[in-house]
Amino acid sequence: MKLLALGLVLGCLSVADAAIQVDQVDVFIGGTRGHACYRVPTAVTLPNNTVLMAVESRRTTCGDQAPKDIELVRSQDGGFTWSEPVMLVGSLTGNTTYRNPYLTVVPGSSTTATPDLVLLQFVNSTLDEPWTTFQMESRDAGLTWSSAQPVNLSAWNGTLAGPGLGITLAHTHPGRIIMCGASGYHAGHSANGVVWFSDDQGASYVVSAVFPEMQECQVAELADGTLLINFRNSHLNSSCDCRAQSVSHDGGLTWGPLTYIPDLIEPVCSAGLVAANDTLYFTNPNSRDQRINMSVQSSMDGGNTWSHEVTLWPGPSGYSVATNHPNSKCTLGVAYERGEQSYAERITFAHINLCYE
Ligand SMILES: *[C@@H]1O[C@H](CO)[C@@H](O)[C@H](O)[C@H]1NC(C)=O
Ligand SMILES: *[C@@H]1O[C@H](CO)[C@@H](O)[C@H](O)[C@H]1NC(C)=O
Ligand SMILES: *[C@@H]1O[C@H](CO)[C@@H](O)[C@H](O)[C@H]1NC(C)=O
Ligand SMILES: *[C@@H]1O[C@H](CO)[C@@H](O)[C@H](O)[C@H]1NC(C)=O
Ligand SMILES: *[C@@H]1O[C@H](CO)[C@@H](O)[C@H](O)[C@H]1NC(C)=O
Ligand SMILES: *[C@@H]1O[C@H](CO)[C@@H](O)[C@H](O)[C@H]1NC(C)=O
Ligand SMILES: *[C@@H]1O[C@H](CO)[C@@H](O)[C@H](O)[C@H]1NC(C)=O
Ligand SMILES: *[C@@H]1O[C@H](CO)[C@@H](O)[C@H](O)[C@H]1NC(C)=O
Repeated sequence: MKLLALGLVLGCLSVADAAIQVDQVDVFIGGTRGHACYRVPTAVTLPNNTVLMAVESRRTTCGDQAPKDIELVRSQDGGFTWSEPVMLVGSLTGNTTYRNPYLTVVPGSSTTATPDLVLLQFVNSTLDEPWTTFQMESRDAGLTWSSAQPVNLSAWNGTLAGPGLGITLAHTHPGRIIMCGASGYHAGHSANGVVWFSDDQGASYVVSAVFPEMQECQVAELADGTLLINFRNSHLNSSCDCRAQSVSHDGGLTWGPLTYIPDLIEPVCSAGLVAANDTLYFTNPNSRDQRINMSVQSSMDGGNTWSHEVTLWPGPSGYSVATNHPNSKCTLGVAYERGEQSYAERITFAHINLCYE
C-alpha cells in the first residue's frame, strides 16, 4: 500500500511543500502459523541496514497471559521485504509464556574488526514468581543466536524491559547501553518506570533511576548528548491525558523531574521514540482515550513541542516502535499493531521516506 501525505512541513527539509512517502507491509497476521495473535513488536536497524523485528507470538488467544513464543524476522532492504519468521524462544506446544521482546544494537568497530552485537531480552513469565529476564545475543546480524542466559539484576525481579528498544549511546558516554521498562505486573511490586544501563556490552547492568507511577517507556539520545525518556502513564495528571518525559545530561546516570507534554496525547499505551540527529520522532495512537489513529510526530526542540508528520493508520492501532539508521535523516521505520476491528489483528512495518519530493 502506498500513501502520500502532501503539504507537510518536514523536520529534515527546509521546504514547506514536500511530501512523505509511506510503504506498509503486514508482516505478522493473527490466526496464521499456529498463533492466534501477534503483539508487542520491537525493531532495530543495524549499521549495515539490516532491520530486525521480534514479536510476542500468542498461541491460543490474544490475551496477555496466553502461552507465548518470541519470533524474529529480518529485512535486508530497510523493511520492504522480510524473511520467514524464526522461533527464538518457545514452542507450538506446552504452556510457556515469554513476553516483551526487547532488541538493542551495540555497533561494532571496523578498525578493531569487532562485529555488531545485537542483544535480545525477554521475560519468562511462565510462573508467577519470579519473572526472570533472559538475554540472548547475535554477532551476525540476527542470523544465529546464543542460548538464553538469565540476567543478573535483582531489581528486575518483577520488572519488564520495554516494550521498545534499548539504545547504545554515541555522544556523552559512547558505548553505554541504556534500557528501560516498568514494574508492577505481579503481586508485591509497585508500578514504576525503571532505567538501567551497562558499560560492558550487556554483561552486567545497574539501575540508575526509578520513576514512581510511570509505565512503559522509550529512551532516545539527541546529537548534543541529551537523553530523553518518554513514558506511558495512567493519566493521574488528568489535565492533559498525555505522555510524561524526563531529561538526562550525564548519560543516563541522573534524570530531571517529570514534565507532561500536552502535544503528545495518549490513550494509555506503549509508544515509539527515536532521534535523528537533533530531530525526534514519536509514534503512538494519537487519541486521548482509544487505541486508534497511529501517527508520527516530530520535535525539533528536545521534545517540548511536536508537529504532526503523518497518520499511518486512522483505525484501530496499538503498540509501536520507531527505528532508524543513525546516518539517515530521511528514512524512518515503524513497527506497529493495527487492524480493522481490533488493534491486535496484525503487526505492520511502515517504511517512511521523510524527504520524498
Ligand atoms: C497447560 O495448562 C492447562 C491449564 O492449566 C493444563 O490443563 C494443561 O495440561 C497444560 N499443558 C501442559 C503441556 O503443561
Ligand atoms: C521458563 O519457565 C518455565 C517454568 O519454570 C520453565 O519450564 C522454562 O524452561 C523456562 N524457560 C527458559 C528459557 O528458561
Ligand atoms: C523475586 O521476588 C520474590 C517475591 O518478592 C522473591 O521470593 C524471590 O526470591 C525474588 N527472586 C529474585 C531472583 O530476586
Ligand atoms: C548485514 O550483515 C549480515 C551479517 O554479516 C549479513 O548477513 C547481511 O547480508 C548484511 N546485510 C546487508 C544489507 O548488507
Ligand atoms: C549478581 O550480581 C551481584 C552484584 O550485582 C553479585 O554480587 C552476584 O555475585 C551476581 N550473581 C551471579 C550469579 O553472577
Ligand atoms: C500536569 O500536566 C500539566 C501539563 O498539561 C502541567 O502543567 C502540570 O504541572 C502537571 N501536574 C503535575 C502534578 O504533574
Ligand atoms: C546535526 O544537528 C546539528 C545541530 O543542529 C547540526 O549542526 C549538524 O549539521 C547536524 N548534522 C547532520 C549530520 O545533519
Ligand atoms: C488523528 O490524528 C490526526 C492528526 O493528529 C487528527 O487531526 C485527527 O483528529 C485524529 N483522529 C481522531 C479520530 O482522533
